[in-house]
Formats: sequence, structure tokens, C-alpha cells
Amino acid sequence: MCGIIGCVGGQEASEILIEGLRRLEYRGYDSAGVAIIDNGIVQIQKVKGKIADLQKILNKLRLKGTIGIGHTRWATHGRPSELNAHPHHSKDITVVHNGIIENYRVLVPILKKKGYVCKSETDSEIICHLIQMYLDQGLKMEKAFPKALCQVRGSYALAVLYEKEPHRIYVAKNASPLVVGKGQGENFVASDIPAILNQTRTILILEDQEWGFLEKDNIRIFNLKGQPIRRSLKTIQWSLATTEKDGFRHFMLKEIYEQPMAVQNTLSGRLGNGHQRIDLPELEPLFPRKKNPFERIYIVACGTSYHAGMVGKYMMESMARIPVIVDLASEFRYRQPVLDSRCLMVVISQSGETADTLAVVQMARQKKAKIVSICNVMDSSIPRISEATLYTHAGPEIGVASTKAFTAQLVVLSLFSLFLGDLTKNLNRKDVISAIESLSKIPSQMKKILRPDAVYQRIARKYAHCPSLLYFARGINAPIALEGALKLKEISYIHAEGYAAGELKHGPIALIDEGVPVVVLIPQDEHYDKTYSNIEEVQTRGADLIALATQGDKLIPKIAKETIFIPKTQWFLSPLLFSIPIQLMAYYMADYKGTDVDQPRNLAKSVTVE
Ligand code: M6R
Repeated sequence: MCGIIGCVGGQEASEILIEGLRRLEYRGYDSAGVAIIDNGIVQIQKVKGKIADLQKILNKLRLKGTIGIGHTRWATHGRPSELNAHPHHSKDITVVHNGIIENYRVLVPILKKKGYVCKSETDSEIICHLIQMYLDQGLKMEKAFPKALCQVRGSYALAVLYEKEPHRIYVAKNASPLVVGKGQGENFVASDIPAILNQTRTILILEDQEWGFLEKDNIRIFNLKGQPIRRSLKTIQWSLATTEKDGFRHFMLKEIYEQPMAVQNTLSGRLGNGHQRIDLPELEPLFPRKKNPFERIYIVACGTSYHAGMVGKYMMESMARIPVIVDLASEFRYRQPVLDSRCLMVVISQSGETADTLAVVQMARQKKAKIVSICNVMDSSIPRISEATLYTHAGPEIGVASTKAFTAQLVVLSLFSLFLGDLTKNLNRKDVISAIESLSKIPSQMKKILRPDAVYQRIARKYAHCPSLLYFARGINAPIALEGALKLKEISYIHAEGYAAGELKHGPIALIDEGVPVVVLIPQDEHYDKTYSNIEEVQTRGADLIALATQGDKLIPKIAKETIFIPKTQWFLSPLLFSIPIQLMAYYMADYKGTDVDQPRNLAKSVTVE
């Protein structure tokens, strides 16, 4: 989604803005632009395409201004073009925007009648005209800005320059993320923390329906009624290195390799009493007197996080015997779900900003359901309105394709399920201790799978030209088959479908023909024989089998073209290990095809609009 950066202070703005835009690139974009106040005049430069092209222009211009705003645009309203790129401009006002102004179609003709004509096809442009209109009516900027905000419906994160106040950046937020960074004699604004982490670690997070302004030595925040807001600053602990590639070709590959550490960090401090007990103090207020007050659990998420939720259902139902319903946030919010205070709502989101998931949390709050979120980004919007948050400690995830955040979500879901199993007495002490023992081994088992292996390059060479791949598995690994297909589609643009193996005969087997690549996940669990029968069915119809099997399996290599061995673990932890080869397979296929692995076309890292 669109990214915003802004700076006011001592350093030349053009360098800071370009560096900030680079750090926002991972969110996905099709055009970029900046506005810098140079010698009192707003200079706007925009390009369709890459930030490097924008940088070339700025290098030639050599602007010396120390205040500016920048934007990466991910098109929603209006095609990708220079005209539609931000900043947008109306006489004295220049604006960058992330979000969607839902009532812009109503506002465009009203503004036009008054002589404020939109030149672009975007919803965003109306914002600068609205503010300008109020300024022309004689209001001061500190009144005109919030008045304009009250006229727009929808989501916005905004950074605004007013040529008559060339020492200030105005900012505002509603349902799209925006953070302010406090420096020494300079201040910053950005869509997310990594964009300004090289400048400052002191952050102020704006809340919905707040606006304010930044000057060199001053940050002021207000609500829409104009009342000042006092908010404490946060110090960010993560290191900048976690947001850089560290010698890997892509962030995605680096993040795949970071999984043992991400799992370790997510477990850290949660295995209590010398690895005898699950410690999740965040959940205690929801389970008074260590009893379960909930009749059912909903797990709601989007994309990869939804697949984690599907795995969570297998774990929770089996360990805690509580009914679990898993749904896509984009569907759930428009259904009439039966929600009340007896429901526990578990929402999963790496970014904590996904618009549909956030809307589900708001809806569940109204219905008095209790909300536990599983998020990776600290203090993002979803944790801020949840009763409890179980953070995954995967570190910043930059690659658009989610990898380490996914496996960290699976770790949290397994801890949560064990916690519930213990609480409901469906698990005994021995079960919990043995589960903890297996969990603790996961990082070292992951490292074994992550050994550099020619198999993925060979698979890529052999199958990257194929029009389509099928993935299948049973039980708790069926969602991993879906995740494997999603990973491949999003970064390699090769069509792929994932199925629960039992569904093959109900349709997909018709796709099997000579040489069709089929990826099967077959751990040695209770479903082994049934999945093996499915393997035989596709193999006799000519499929090329790529199998992920348990270490020591003698049968599978005889029937599969390629076998990748996975160390043995308990059933509920096998998705953690089986996820890694499907990520590597997708990565090497995409890299072989030469796609933009970290920023695949049309995709954005955090989907902050519907
Ligand atoms: O930040 P979230 O976990 O809420 O994001 C949900 C999806 O947009 C995300 O998982 C998406 O499917 C990824 N690109 C998958 O790799």
C-alpha cells in the first residue's frame, strides 16, 4: 500500500526522503513523488516507476530545502501514472495520502462548482482542494485542516505542506497507519517505523482522528475538536540490521533463514518453570480463576495469516476441545456471525494494520466478544484495540511474501492451544511437558532443513516453465498445501492450487496429466496411508511428484521424482517444519524466473485498504 515519509529540520530533505521511500518500497508501489520547500517555494517531482528515477531527477535539481514530504503510490483509484502519483497540489497546499476517501465522488463536483478542479483520477486530490477552499474562506490552517478532515469519509494518513508556513508539516490519521519520529533539531513522519529507523528511535504513534504538526523542535497533536493530545514517546529497541539484507539476495530469503531465530524469540520467556509450563500472562485476565468462559472461538485473518489460523483450528480443537470457526476477515465482516460475550475472537495479522482484519476487531468489540490478537508489529492498530495481544517476535518482515511471521504465528498458536488444553484439563502435565520439549527442538530442526541444498534449484530449473502446480496434504498440513500454492503464485506468478488430499477425487484429479508437477506433504502421521493412496492415484496418471516426507521414509523416494526429508516431530508441530521447503521452493522458482521477489507485482505488504 502507499507509503508516506516526511522530514523537517537540519538535513537536506531530498536525501532523507529518497532513503525513506526506499525503506517503504517493500509495501509495494507503482509511482513515487516528493515535494520539498526550497527557498520558500514548493518543488514537486513525481515519476511513474522506480524510486531510482526520482532520485536521478533530484540529483540534478540539487534542492537544498530541509522540509519535505514523499510518497510511494500503490494505485487504488486511478491507474498508475505520473499525473495520479502524489504529491497532489492546490495553490498553497501539497498533500500525500495513504488510504481511501470514500466520499470523493460526492466532493469532486462540489469543489468544482467552487472553482477547485481535480486534475488527477485519484480520490486523494480532493484533500488539498478542500483544505485550500477553507483557507480561501479566511480560515487559518489550524482550523482549515481539521475542518477538511471532518468532511472526508474513509481512511487517511496524511502529510501536508502549506507554502505560507514553510517550517511545518501537517499530519493526520484515520484508519491508516502513521508514526512521528522525534529527532534532535529535526522531526519525521512515516507510514511505518523502519522508514525512519535510520534517523531516530524515538517514536510517537498517532491514533485515529488525530492531526497535528511537526516543526524542527516541536511536535503538537490534537483531536478533531482541536483539543491537544499528550502522548508519551516510545523507544524502539530493534536494530536497523533487521531491516537490511545482510548479504542475502532478497529479504525473503533472509527472512526464510531467520526462522530458527524467530521461533526461538517467539518462545522466549513463554516456557515457564524450567520448561514445565506455558506462560502467557497476557491471556490471564480473559480466563479468570483459570477457567474457560468461552463457548467457541473464531479465528479470523487474511492471506497467509488465515492459513496460520486454519492450522490453529486443528491444534485448538484437538488440545482444548473447544469448537473453532476459521474465516477470512473480508468475508466475516460482511456476514451476520453469531457473536457475543461467550465468543473468543482470535485475529491474526503480521502487520496489525490489515483493513479487513481491523474492521472485524471493531465489529467484534461492538458485539462484546473478547479479542486476542496475534501480531508481529508492536503497537500497530489491531493490538491497540484488542483485549490481549500475543506478539510474534519474528522481527520486521520486509519481503511481501510472509515467511518468518507465518511460522512465528504457528508457534504462538501452538502455545495458545497448549495453554487452553492445560486450562480445560484436556491435556495432562506429561502431554504439556512433552509438547514443550518438542517445541524447543524446532529451531535446531529448522536449521537442518535450511542447509543449502541443490534440490530447490533443480526443482526450479525443471518446473519453473510449467503453467500450473498442485499441492496437497491431509489434516493439519492441508493448510500448508494452501500456503505453498499461495507462496508460489504471489512471487513466481505461476498458477498453483492447494487442496486437502481427500478432495482430489472430487474434481482436481481431472487436472492430472503426464508431467503435471504435484507437491505432496506426507508426514508419518495418522493420515500417512490415506495420503499414500492419493500419491499412487496421481502418480499412475502421470504426475511428477515432489514429496516432502519424514526423515527415514523408505517408500516415498521410490515413487517421487524429488523427495525432501523433514525431521520428525509431534503432529501439531509438523506444519512448522513442512512450511520451510514450500517457501524455499517458491523462492527458487521465482528467482529462477527473475521476478521481483520482494515486491511482487500488484501486491502490497500491508493491505490498509479494502
Ligand atoms: O499483515 P497481515 O498478516 O494481516 O496480512 C495478511 C495478508 O495480506 C498477507 O498474509 C498476504 O497474504 C501475504 N502477502 C502472504 O505472503
